[in-house]
Amino acid sequence: MKAGNIFLVGLMGAGKTTVGKLLAKHLGKTFYDSDHEIERRTGVNIPLIFDIEGEAGFRSREQTMIEELASKQDIVLATGGGAVLSPQNRETLHGHGTVVYLRASVDDLWLRTRHDRGRPLLQTADPRARLAELFQQRDPLYREVAHITADTSRQSVQNLVHQLEQKLEQLDC
Ligand code: S3P
Repeated sequence: MKAGNIFLVGLMGAGKTTVGKLLAKHLGKTFYDSDHEIERRTGVNIPLIFDIEGEAGFRSREQTMIEELASKQDIVLATGGGAVLSPQNRETLHGHGTVVYLRASVDDLWLRTRHDRGRPLLQTADPRARLAELFQQRDPLYREVAHITADTSRQSVQNLVHQLEQKLEQLDC
């Protein structure tokens, strides 16, 4: 567990990418975003991968990417919101770094994602209800895999990053 890695998990809109970039800068670590890496390598965006290969095809690419990124050292990784669905991903993340769950209320997640067209799972008639369902299904999985849970509501990104730095120091990460 001493690879110096920090893995951010949480639902779409929890702030994994924003928080991850700033945290990496503060800690002098390299930032990665698993979705962006998949897009960079394939040359196409996530919605197109869902269209052509379905969710199953995307999950398989995601698992391979997480396996590869988790073997690096001194990184901060923003994972896709559904990465924790796979038991293998949960094991990989938990065993190769400190996992931080960015926990947000369904209302906050909805406010942050409602204008977004880049998330295939939210292109439904009632995206708020979809987020509530995903929260129910995944909150236990995020909790299971995480070493640290951080409540992201009603605080600035700067504050949150500062709190996380303190928690990580306490855990000697
Ligand atoms: C997904 C979350 C997305 C992306 C894909 C599926 C999910 O990532 O991986 O659209 O299942 O929650 P973000 O959490 O970065 O939006």
